[in-house]
Amino acid sequence: MSRKSPKDSYARPDAFSKRAKAEGYPARSIYKLEEIDQRCALLRPGQRVLDLGCAPGSWLLYAAKRVGPKGSVRGVDLTPLAIGLPSNAVSLAGDAFEPSGPTYDFIREGAPYDAVVSDMAPSTTGNRFTDQVRSADLVRRTLEIAGEFLAPGGAWVAKIFMSEELVSIRKRVRELFDEERIIRPEGTRQISYEVFLVGLRRRPEAPPTG
Ligand SMILES: C[S@@+](CC[C@H](N)C(=O)[O-])C[C@H]1O[C@@H](n2cnc3c(N)ncnc32)[C@H](O)[C@@H]1O
Repeated sequence: MSRKSPKDSYARPDAFSKRAKAEGYPARSIYKLEEIDQRCALLRPGQRVLDLGCAPGSWLLYAAKRVGPKGSVRGVDLTPLAIGLPSNAVSLAGDAFEPSGPTYDFIREGAPYDAVVSDMAPSTTGNRFTDQVRSADLVRRTLEIAGEFLAPGGAWVAKIFMSEELVSIRKRVRELFDEERIIRPEGTRQISYEVFLVGLRRRPEAPPTG
């Protein structure tokens, strides 16, 4: 009998993957954002949303539906999207770390945002420590972007691989936001060590960068 590797668990379609396909979403990750949205009252009609790490596009489609025709969603990913987008959503292939240039300009043009959401994940190396550090770096970048472009009262969500890095990151989240939450949505695969950090109600007096 052959043994199942962790990679098999990611490749095997589960109930969430099947439901995503049936509902027209390119990835099962949609249900993680949906659960966070339902638990935290994240998205509302008319809002402006920035989606970091938006490919293949499930969060973008979900957010576009939630904010409706009076709202707008901007997505950025290293990989270009291969799906058609509704008229209130746009995306750009670029690196969220870019400190200036086209990706930075694209993000700035849509500001101020009511929500900055990030499902960004590093390409995993197999070395857990390296992956944790890279994931934490991505989250710190999303906090910088939120610090610069999130409106007072706005919300922030970011995926992180659990590690000791959480301590300093959570401290920064509590400086920037009135309320901090950690959520592990039901759609998270059992073998995954990811969680989602949520910041609610950006403090108006919070310093712009950390
Ligand atoms: C789990 S996927 C996101 C899935 C997406 N939320 C959805 O629902 O379709 C993670 C994405 O993060 C992107 N990513 C990783 N590092 C990035 C960076 N520096 N800038 C932009 N995107 C990045 C990857 O290219 C990958 O597509």
